[in-house]
Amino acid sequence: MVKVENRLKMIDRKIDQSRIRIKDADDLKSLEGVFDTSTLKTLYFLANKGEIDALGGVISTGKEANVFHALGCGSERELAIKIYRISTSNFKAMQSYLIGDPRFKDIRHEKRSIVFAWTKKEMRNLKKAHSAGVRVPKPFDTRNNILLMEFIGEDELPAQQLRVVPLTPEEAKDAYETTIEYVRRLYQANLVHADLSEFNILMDGREVVFIDMGQSVTLDHPNAMEFLQRDVDNVARFFKKKGVKVDSDAALDMVLSG
Ligand SMILES: Nc1ncnc2c1ncn2[C@@H]1O[C@H](COP(=O)(O)OP(=O)(O)O)[C@@H](O)[C@H]1O
Ligand SMILES: [Mg+2]
Repeated sequence: MVKVENRLKMIDRKIDQSRIRIKDADDLKSLEGVFDTSTLKTLYFLANKGEIDALGGVISTGKEANVFHALGCGSERELAIKIYRISTSNFKAMQSYLIGDPRFKDIRHEKRSIVFAWTKKEMRNLKKAHSAGVRVPKPFDTRNNILLMEFIGEDELPAQQLRVVPLTPEEAKDAYETTIEYVRRLYQANLVHADLSEFNILMDGREVVFIDMGQSVTLDHPNAMEFLQRDVDNVARFFKKKGVKVDSDAALDMVLSG
């Protein structure tokens, strides 16, 4: 074990080498071109609030959002920052996942409001999942199109997606059982992940972690059961390939059994 002070020193050195401190507007200048002005303002606001100290490297560049590594809380805590793009996001698809969710019945129907609502929705879904006993990144804060959450991984190295993690047959079986148990807990808490697959499950060592819950829906959503079935099928298909004896009907029964 490296002593805490040493570790902090080490982290500090790394920041000096490669990070962009975002304590004042000048530092943010270097991020122009990466983010639009309103996203820069939001980053600046969160930095001023003391929630982000430094922004690190890109973890992922996805269709709707980019995920960055960052440091928060006086550089003592590693964070993952998910920034939803306003300009290129597929807001028509987003809209269809917001219908039927009583929590978002009053949002305005323009692009920006939808993306903001989506970001807030991911925060609330993660919170709900966390309270239901499902391991997810703990959400810390959200503002506009930015979500701050627990970084899954260590020393800037993100945990890997389930799809690329080598697993022994026993580990695969454990991971499968935990995954179905988490789907059951979500269902009990009135939620369906709705995009569950080996891409949105991280393995933190041997621990299963569900991520990416912006599209998760409550059971009020007209397609909730269809999404649930699809989640269970995806997971069963993946683990079957890994040699686990799976029965997706039995798994679904387990989820619905309460
Ligand atoms: N909290 C986190 N800690 C570490 N890595 C993360 C975290 N959240 C996301 N990632 C990484 O970023 C990728 C994209 O994040 P995700 O939430 O799935 O967004 P997308 O909508 O782009 O799929 C994930 O597959 C994972 O590799
Ligand atoms: Mg994803």
